Amino acid sequence: MKKLGIYPSIMCCKPWDVKAFIEKFEEYDITSIHFDVMDGHYVPNVMLGSAFFKDIASITKLPIDVHLMTLEPEKFVEYFPFRENDYCCFHPETTNQPYRLLQQIKSKGVKAGYAISPATSIEYIKNSLSVLDYVLVMSINPGFAAQKMVPDHLPKLKEISELCAKADHKIEIIVDGNTTAENTKKMIENGADGVVAGTSSLLKYGPETFDKYYHDYMEAIK
Ligand code: DX5
Ligand code: ZN
Repeated sequence: MKKLGIYPSIMCCKPWDVKAFIEKFEEYDITSIHFDVMDGHYVPNVMLGSAFFKDIASITKLPIDVHLMTLEPEKFVEYFPFRENDYCCFHPETTNQPYRLLQQIKSKGVKAGYAISPATSIEYIKNSLSVLDYVLVMSINPGFAAQKMVPDHLPKLKEISELCAKADHKIEIIVDGNTTAENTKKMIENGADGVVAGTSSLLKYGPETFDKYYHDYMEAIK
């Protein structure tokens, strides 16, 4: 079985633990650092900015996957000094031109994706298959960590995975939210290639517990 992509959600780290966590992420060769950006308009919360992105990018070569939970994402994309191999996704309903924004992100050499909230139509995906690099499938309502997976998530995840399989290239399916080991197994069964790891799994406590939680988690999802 292909190795599950692990995307630790840096918004779940206490500020004073960030550097130590990034050292752990490098030691365990995680896929990318999940970077949640919230503007207080698309979601009722404010989170992570471009200065913090620059600071993280200055101390690690690990990719950073920016998750824009903002209105006007076409503006926010320009605030981040992306590197080759970074990722950027946005919620397609937040812009008039989602297809053009995917192309704008890709023109920077950055992997481009849609973030799909629980009730957002998957028609956006159907109409963008040739330009999508990945889809971030929200198993929770975006805006806060430590929520519970919504009941309709797994069937929608399966539908998205089957839809993306029709593309002429691999579109990575990453699930975001409440990725406990038990949920992760079901998400993998329904098409997940990767999971955002937050307070539900690897970032429940401080970096000193990461080794234990990482091994327990990888064992539990086998
Ligand atoms: C919430 C964010 C998620 C969140 C995941 O809107 O998009 O990335 O940090 O946190 P957990 O794993 O606790 O659900
Ligand atoms: Zn996220």
